[in-house]
Amino acid sequence: MESEDRSNRAWGPQTAAVHAGEGIDPTTRASSPNLVMSSTFAPEEMAGFSARNREGYEGFVYGRLSNPTVRQLEEKLAVLEDAEDAQAYASGMAATHALLAGRLSVGDHLIVSDSNYVGTAELVRDSLPRWGIEVTPLDTSDLAAIANAARPETRMLWIETPANPIMRLTDIAACAALKRDKGIRDLVVDSTFASPLGCRPLDLVD
Ligand SMILES: Cc1ncc(COP(=O)(O)O)c(C=O)c1O
Repeated sequence: MESEDRSNRAWGPQTAAVHAGEGIDPTTRASSPNLVMSSTFAPEEMAGFSARNREGYEGFVYGRLSNPTVRQLEEKLAVLEDAEDAQAYASGMAATHALLAGRLSVGDHLIVSDSNYVGTAELVRDSLPRWGIEVTPLDTSDLAAIANAARPETRMLWIETPANPIMRLTDIAACAALKRDKGIRDLVVDSTFASPLGCRPLDLVD
């Protein structure tokens, strides 16, 4: 089920929050998003369940991978965040876990804020070291501290701004520059508290 006119980058945030990702349903002409409840789909061409099998296939296969309702949310978030695309998860911690587990490997080093949401703090401090990933928690508002901690194996710099629970701010643009200078592969910004109405991290990095 494809709908039309799902996003317009010229919209202001209020209009985008309401309309982005949504369009008239071509089958029913419904003007509000239909909730799609099916867990499985009948693809027009053969498509496997694994990510490898689905490479290049845009349609829906299985609800856990994506479904039209979730896709509408992702398109809305991409417009609100000024992002190329977005990927929705069942919770913030599911997204956090996917990023850490998907991007870091044994021997890698992570620099992370020493004040962050408790779920993130527990995951990085308790689980990552067990998987052979070294973690340096520090005050990420202190750019010199980040620069000093960076080493050749540092693959990710994870900042949370404003940081939960102390609301400490970290300079996103400065961290992006530091990431480049130090050859750190990934900069992750948990911008949950600001929301895209308060801060759009992707507008602050090149
Ligand atoms: C800054 C921040 N990041 C991540 C999360 C995790 O989100 P969730 O509770 O959806 O897993 C929270 C939750 O409050 C949060 O405040």
